[in-house]
Amino acid sequence: MSTSSGPNSPGSVPPIDDWNRLLDGKVAAITGGGADGIGGAISELFAAHGATVEIAEIDADRATATVDAVTSAGGSARAHVVDVRTVEGVETFTSSVLDTHGGIDVLVNNVGDYRPLVRFHDSGPESWEAMYRINLWHVYAVTQAFLTPMIERGGGSIVNVHSVEGMRGFPGEPVYSSMKAAVAHFTTSLAAGYGREGIRANGIGVDLTQSQQVDYITGYEDHENLWESWAPVGRLGWPTDQARVALFLASDQSAFVTGHNIPVDGGTKAGGGWFFSPGANRFTNRPKTL
Ligand SMILES: NC(=O)c1ccc[n+]([C@@H]2O[C@H](COP(=O)([O-])OP(=O)(O)OC[C@H]3O[C@@H](n4cnc5c(N)ncnc54)[C@H](O)[C@@H]3O)[C@@H](O)[C@H]2O)c1
Repeated sequence: MSTSSGPNSPGSVPPIDDWNRLLDGKVAAITGGGADGIGGAISELFAAHGATVEIAEIDADRATATVDAVTSAGGSARAHVVDVRTVEGVETFTSSVLDTHGGIDVLVNNVGDYRPLVRFHDSGPESWEAMYRINLWHVYAVTQAFLTPMIERGGGSIVNVHSVEGMRGFPGEPVYSSMKAAVAHFTTSLAAGYGREGIRANGIGVDLTQSQQVDYITGYEDHENLWESWAPVGRLGWPTDQARVALFLASDQSAFVTGHNIPVDGGTKAGGGWFFSPGANRFTNRPKTL
C-alpha cells in the first residue's frame, strides 16, 4: 500500500533540483583533511558543494593548505590541529565543533596508515597497539562523540575511509588489514543499529590512490605503461576519485544506501590476483615481471 506523505512516500526522496550543491547548509567533520591526501580532496569537494567543513589534522601545514584552498575557492573550512589517536585530541576537536554548530550532518573518518609495514612474525603488542590507534581507535572515539548530537539534529551520514586490504587477504601486514576490516564491519553494524534514528553509515575501501602516504609515482620511471597491468581500469587513482564517492555517500543522492563498503580501487578487488600482460595481450595470474 502506498502512502501520500510520511517517510514511506515518494515525497520523502529529495527532489533532483536540490542536488546541484549536494551538501548545501550541512556541517561536515573530516579527520585527516590535510592537503595532498584523500581527506584534503574530500574537504575541498564537500566545501564546493556548500558544506561548512571542520577538519581534524595533525600536520599544521597540510591543514592550512586545505583551508586556504577551500577559502580561496569561496568555501568555508576550519582546521583543528590535533592528534586523533589521543583522548585529548578527539575531545578538543569534537567539543569545538559541537560548541560552534551544536551538531554535525556528515562525519568522514579518514585518518589511517599502513606504516611501518611489519611482517607478523616480527610484530608485537607495541606495533599492534600503534596499528589500532591510527586505524581503528579514533574511528570509535570520534563517531561516539558525534553520534548523539547527529541523531538529535535529525540524522546524518557517516563515511568511513578504510582499505581494500580490509576486504581481501593482505600478505604484507595482517594486523593493518584486520584493523581496516574492523572499520568496515563497524560501519555495517552501525548502519544496522542506527538507521531508525536517521543515521546512514557506509565505507570506502581505498586502493591505488596517489597521496603523500602512498606514492605510486616516485621510483617507477615506467609507471605510465605499467598501470595497464596493475589496475583493471588501466590508470592510477587520485584523491578526487575517492572524494566523489565520499560525496555521493555523504549526500542525499545515497539516501537509500547504508551499511555498504564500496571498493574504490580501479577494479583491483574485482580482478583479484589477475594481471593484464600488454606484451602477450592476455591476462595472467603468474606475472614474470612487475
Ligand atoms: N592512498 C591509498 O592508496 C590508500 C590505500 C588504502 C587505504 N588508504 C586509506 O585512506 C586514508 C587516507 O589516506 P591517504 O592515502 O590520503 O594518506 P595521507 O597520509 O596522504 O593522508 C592522511 C592525513 O591524515 C593526517 N593524519 C595522520 N595521522 C593523524 C592523526 N593521528 N591525527 C590527525 N590527523 C592525522 C595526515 O597528516 C594526512 O593529512 C587512510 O585511512 C588510509 O589508510 C589509502
